[in-house]
Amino acid sequence: MVEFSHVSDAVKKPGTTVVLRGWVYRKRESGGLAFIILRDNTGILQTATKKDAVDAASWKAASDTTIESSIIVTGKVREDKRAPTGYELSVEKFDNVGIAEPFPITEYQSTELLLDKRHLWLRSQKMTNIMKVRATVFRYIRDFFAERQFWEVTPPVITKAGGESGSDMFETDFFGTKAYLTQSSQLYLEAMVPALERVYDLVPSFRAEKSRTVKHLAEYWHLEAEAAYYGCEDNMKLQEDMISYICQKMVKEQAPLLDALGVDKKGLGVVKAPFERLTYKEAIDYINKHGGKKEWLDDFGVEDEKILTEKRDKPIFVWKWPIKIKSFYMRPDPNDPELVLNADMLAPQGHGEIIGGSERISDYAMLKKRITELGLNVKNYEWYLDTPRYGSVQHSGFGFGTERFIKWILNLDHIRDAIPFPRMINRAEP
Ligand code: 4AD
Ligand code: MG
Repeated sequence: MVEFSHVSDAVKKPGTTVVLRGWVYRKRESGGLAFIILRDNTGILQTATKKDAVDAASWKAASDTTIESSIIVTGKVREDKRAPTGYELSVEKFDNVGIAEPFPITEYQSTELLLDKRHLWLRSQKMTNIMKVRATVFRYIRDFFAERQFWEVTPPVITKAGGESGSDMFETDFFGTKAYLTQSSQLYLEAMVPALERVYDLVPSFRAEKSRTVKHLAEYWHLEAEAAYYGCEDNMKLQEDMISYICQKMVKEQAPLLDALGVDKKGLGVVKAPFERLTYKEAIDYINKHGGKKEWLDDFGVEDEKILTEKRDKPIFVWKWPIKIKSFYMRPDPNDPELVLNADMLAPQGHGEIIGGSERISDYAMLKKRITELGLNVKNYEWYLDTPRYGSVQHSGFGFGTERFIKWILNLDHIRDAIPFPRMINRAEP
C-alpha cells in the first residue's frame, strides 16, 4: 500500500521519495520544465517536473493540470534555496485526481467577490491559517476549562426565553408557535449550576442587530461560563486567567502560525493577568478627558472603546455599571444599589468589548422583581425562576465572543475573517 506524506513531514526528510496528495497552488511552465506548487493542509511545496525525467503520462498530467486541481505527486525532496520555501520536490510521477475548471479567484479581487466565493477563498493561505488559529483557540479554551474542572454542556439553540434584549432575536416558527434563535445560553447554564457547579459551553449565538460594523456578526460562537460560589471578583479573575492562558499558549506553541499571519508575538506575549480595572465612572471621566463626550447612563460606542483602549497593550475591565443600563439578572452592588456587580472586558488597540459578565442575582424575590420592573413577561421566565427557588447559591458567569478575540489577536480589519462562513446583515450565503 502506498504511504502518503504531508508537506510538513516531507521537508523533514530530504533525499527520500515521498507521495503527496494536494492541490495546485501555483503553476509555471517553461520549455520542458513544469514548476507546480502543491499545497496541502500543512503547507506548500514547489514540485519540479522535467519532461525528460518522467514518463509521458506524468508529463501530460503536469502540463494539463490547472490551478486548484487535486493532484498526487511522487518525488524526492531536496533543499533548494531558490524554491519559495527552501525545498523542492523532483517529480518522478504526477497524477491529476480532479482537474479544476478555471479558478474564479485570481490575484487581485474585490472584497465582495472574495465574500461571494468564500467557499473557494477559504483555500487561501491566509484563511487557512486563520482557521487553524480559530481551531487552536477553541482547543485552548477547552483545555483551560478542563484544567479548572468546568463541565462542558450543550444548551439549546431554539428557545422561548428572551435573551439580552428581546428586540434583536431571530424569530422562528416552531410548529406553529413563536420561538427564537438563542442570543445567549446564560439562563440555561445558570439552571445547570446546581447540577454541575461549574459549567461552560461553546455554541453559536444569534443577534439580529442591524449593526453594520467591523465587529458584529449575526451568528457568532459564544463561549459562556457559569460557576457556583463565584463572586464578581472570582469571575473577573477567571476571565483574565482564561485570556492570559490562551495568549501565552499561542505564543509558546504556535509561533510559526502567528509568524505566517504577521502577528506581533511580543505584543501578544505581554498579555498576562492581572488586567487593569476602571469603574464605569472612571471610564466616563477618562473618555471625557481624552477628547470624547459621555454622560452618566451612556453606553459606549466604537469611538469610546477606542479612546479607552488604543494606548493599551492588555485588555481592561470596565466594571460596576449603572443598573439602569444593564440586564435584569445582574446583582446590584450591596454598597451602591445604583450599580451592578458586572464587568465588560475590552480588548486593546480599539478592538472593543470581548467579554460581558456579572455576578447574578441569586435571590428569588429580587430576581422576580427585576424581571417585572423591566417589563419582561414573567411567564417566559418561570422555569428560570425555579433555579433560585430550589437551593439558590451565589454564582457568576460571563460570555466571550470568540471571533472578537480572534480579530484582536490577529489584528484583523473585520470580524468576518475570524469565521469561515460569516453571517451578517447583508449576507447569509454561501
Ligand atoms: O455582552 P453580551 O450581549 O452578554 C451576554 O450575552 C451575556 N448573557 C453573557 C453572559 O454573561 N453569559 O455578549 C457577550 C459577548 C460580547 O462581549 C461580545 O464579545 C460577543 O459576546 N458578542 C458578539 N460577537 C460578535 N457579533 C455580535 N453581534 C456580538 N454580540 C455580542
Ligand atoms: Mg455586552
